[in-house]
Amino acid sequence: MANETQHVRLHGLSHVFADGREPLRVFDDVSTGMPRGQFTSIIGPSGCGKSTLLRIVGGLLEPSAGEVRIDGARPRAAQRRHDIGIVFQEPALLPWRTVAANVRLPLEIDGARRRGTDVESLLDLVGLGEFRDYYPHQLSGGMRQRVAIARALAVDPALLLMDEPFGALDEITRTAMRYELLRIWASQAEAATRKTVLFVTHSITEAIVMSDRIVVINGRPGRIVADVAVELPRPRTQEIERSAPFLDYADHLRSLLVGAVA
Ligand SMILES: Nc1ncnc2c1ncn2[C@@H]1O[C@H](COP(=O)(O)OP(=O)(O)O)[C@@H](O)[C@H]1O
Ligand SMILES: [Mg+2]
Repeated sequence: MANETQHVRLHGLSHVFADGREPLRVFDDVSTGMPRGQFTSIIGPSGCGKSTLLRIVGGLLEPSAGEVRIDGARPRAAQRRHDIGIVFQEPALLPWRTVAANVRLPLEIDGARRRGTDVESLLDLVGLGEFRDYYPHQLSGGMRQRVAIARALAVDPALLLMDEPFGALDEITRTAMRYELLRIWASQAEAATRKTVLFVTHSITEAIVMSDRIVVINGRPGRIVADVAVELPRPRTQEIERSAPFLDYADHLRSLLVGAVA
């Protein structure tokens, strides 16, 4: 099952929520893989099952059918080995802990492998070096999300899962954070050993700017309707959003998302 190039493998994943009045089949027969070190986005309309899919990959939810393998292991095993970092839309910081103490948290949790991550340099990396002793309520939304990113990186996971991490931010901060995340991702290592990122979004712009590849999910139940390689040079800057190839990708994605469920 372990495959050198596919870091993450999704095979025949289906999920049904059976706790409502009627069973809800969220997505059906989703199979794909994420090569190591790639930045993959999953895009789809709200309600198509993106968060559910990410929770399954992160080992927070068991799928109704199918399986996920991360370096050949089940998500829960990978999670226990701290091979997965997750960033959600809400940063979920502990209000009584400082910035540095929030980032340090995963390293204190029992069983965390101390891979020598230096909290100070992580804070510098996300641009919060001077705010290490601040409390969450003293930070802006963008800064809080930087703390959440640093916290996810603290155990140095090979796989980073992000569920609309900038969805709650204002448009200006959100745009800036895209390029910040790309900088952080690129600075972490050489391309060959870079973290594998699985990024969920409903923003076409965000998906194109960040990704090597975009998996498009649509319909109800959700299915993969396209798998688009984004062949734009890196490093990417905001100018790219006005380039002709970018606009072509945007048109193409928009056409794939037409008729999307609300
Ligand atoms: N725990 C749950 N129990 C029942 N239904 C759920 C649960 N979580 C999500 N759903 C439903 O599953 C569908 C997909 O949700 P979600 O994965 O959050 O979609 P997305 O992230 O793409 O907006 C939605 O219709 C949502 O209401
Ligand atoms: Mg969601």
